[in-house]
Amino acid sequence: MTDTSTSSYAGLQSLIWAGDKLELLDQRLLPEETVYLPLTTAEEVWESIRHMKVRGAPAIGIAAAYGLVLGTAGAGGEGSDQEAWLAEVERVADYLATSRPTAVNLFWALDRMKAKAASAAGSGLSLEACQKALLEEAIAIQSEDEETNRLIGEYALELMKDGMGVLTHCNAGGLATAKYGTALAPFYLAQERGISLKVFADETRPVLQGARLTAFELQQAGVDVTLICDNMAGMVMSKGWVQAVIVGTDRVAANGDVANKIGTYSVAVLAKAHGIPFYVACPMSTIDLQTPTGDLIPIEERSPEEVTEAFGKRTAPHGVKVFNPAFDVTPAEYVTAIITEKGVVKAPYDVNLKKLFEL
Ligand code: MRU
Repeated sequence: MTDTSTSSYAGLQSLIWAGDKLELLDQRLLPEETVYLPLTTAEEVWESIRHMKVRGAPAIGIAAAYGLVLGTAGAGGEGSDQEAWLAEVERVADYLATSRPTAVNLFWALDRMKAKAASAAGSGLSLEACQKALLEEAIAIQSEDEETNRLIGEYALELMKDGMGVLTHCNAGGLATAKYGTALAPFYLAQERGISLKVFADETRPVLQGARLTAFELQQAGVDVTLICDNMAGMVMSKGWVQAVIVGTDRVAANGDVANKIGTYSVAVLAKAHGIPFYVACPMSTIDLQTPTGDLIPIEERSPEEVTEAFGKRTAPHGVKVFNPAFDVTPAEYVTAIITEKGVVKAPYDVNLKKLFEL
């Protein structure tokens, strides 16, 4: 694999730790405005995750890790001890875990932070040192995500050829992660190396992550991107313009079923009908061996207004019934391969995903 440590990626960073606060890019305002919100409390982080100011599985996990740091900063005061501090870490982590249900990276990051807190407190460190250890863990989660995504990009790029058309859904780019993204990482690497890929970005109703975020970040980087409405994917495939689909995911079940942004399942079915490979790119932290099958993945339902008040105006009759699941599950049989930082996995997923954790 080629070394990309000199990458010229210059996308917007979704999360910046600024010493005593988290500077969080408000993704709801993109692409029109670039605003960083200074967050200083766990409550503000919770609200930012819930209302999708920060979104995308890895970015949610990183935000929660910093949220835990912010939420416990005052817990080591006078009269406090390690036991009380640990109890506070648990309480704030439990609270942050209620912000969104589907992306397993949220729970993965909080578990990792809690383990760090327990080991710091257990080794007799002062409360100040414990709090410092917690912050260092959050910073590590963020910087490891960057490296992870570069590796995912390398493996994904090996599956693509110069001149190919590639369709993606939602936003699994730099904005959804620490840097580079998962599904979008190969496009940045290709761009740097003069490999020409033609990306089709589904707009991704109802919140338009494809239009507002994927089209934005790829265009900023000079990648050849064409925005299409979700209902155009079949037509574009039937024209022979798409040779691969690549998406991110919020959670992969142990059998290889994949939860991702609503509409992903339809894209996977279309890809299969057209004989086009359907790839899923994700870090190992998105693979959840504790959840045996996709039907056990909790699927978030969001407010009806996301569907009835699109584009800042009412677009449906008042009182109409609305179903608004934020994610769907693509059965493993539609997934050609799962691309991780440890390599590319194919079916049988129940066996091969487990093996990946043993590497
Ligand atoms: O509701 P969102 O915008 O958080 O959903 C994001 C997705 O579905 C992404 O594809 C997924 O989290 C992977 S991000 C690398």
